[in-house]
Amino acid sequence: MNKPFGNDDPALAAYVTATYAPEDEVLREIRTRSTRAGLPDIQLAALDARHLEILARACGARRAVEIGTLGGYSGVSILRGMAPGGTLDTVEIEPKHATVARESFRKSGFTKRARVHVGSAQRILPRVARRGPFDLCFIDADKEGYPSYLDWAASNLRPGGLVILDNAFLFGHLAGKPTGRRGIEIAAMQRVHTMLASDGRFRATVLPTGEGLAVGVKI
Ligand code: DHB
Ligand code: MG
Repeated sequence: MNKPFGNDDPALAAYVTATYAPEDEVLREIRTRSTRAGLPDIQLAALDARHLEILARACGARRAVEIGTLGGYSGVSILRGMAPGGTLDTVEIEPKHATVARESFRKSGFTKRARVHVGSAQRILPRVARRGPFDLCFIDADKEGYPSYLDWAASNLRPGGLVILDNAFLFGHLAGKPTGRRGIEIAAMQRVHTMLASDGRFRATVLPTGEGLAVGVKI
């Protein structure tokens, strides 16, 4: 028998989150300050934030890139897993989000290790690439952009480096037909999964968390 995919028991989810990743004061403060500043309430679940930290730790990340900073919740989690002195370049298109994120990095003691770049990823990434190659790239921005961000990661990660994609299930729409209001996003997300799974640049899987975290190791 092939065992089923994931687990939808809320009591188990609550148990695992409470045991491994109860939201600490730093992350809670980032989440509440982000909401108060009017940012969309779309940061990672605490358990996915812990997944990011553990993946950064497991690959010994010293240089990481994030596409989509929001309020800094995920960036702080990545930095927590990085080797001492490791740096994060994070790209954010909304200046208001970047301001909240800078405060998050300051409050968590990461000011010197986090560079927040404000602008479109298309404009910023070529500049960030000069600091590469990178150990980890977390993609969490516009879903239509995921295929081009994956290409960037493939070109700028070291062999053995990790690419991680948030919202890999596209809010439950991943397996649907690429038509209608979300058609462009569905097509882009299906395309990026095909690339990650089988174009030969990564060995990859999807961690079946609530949102889905796709993880690929650069070959
Ligand atoms: C949305 C975007 C995200 O990256 C996310 O994690 C959750 C929601 C959104 O656009 O709604
Ligand atoms: Mg996301």
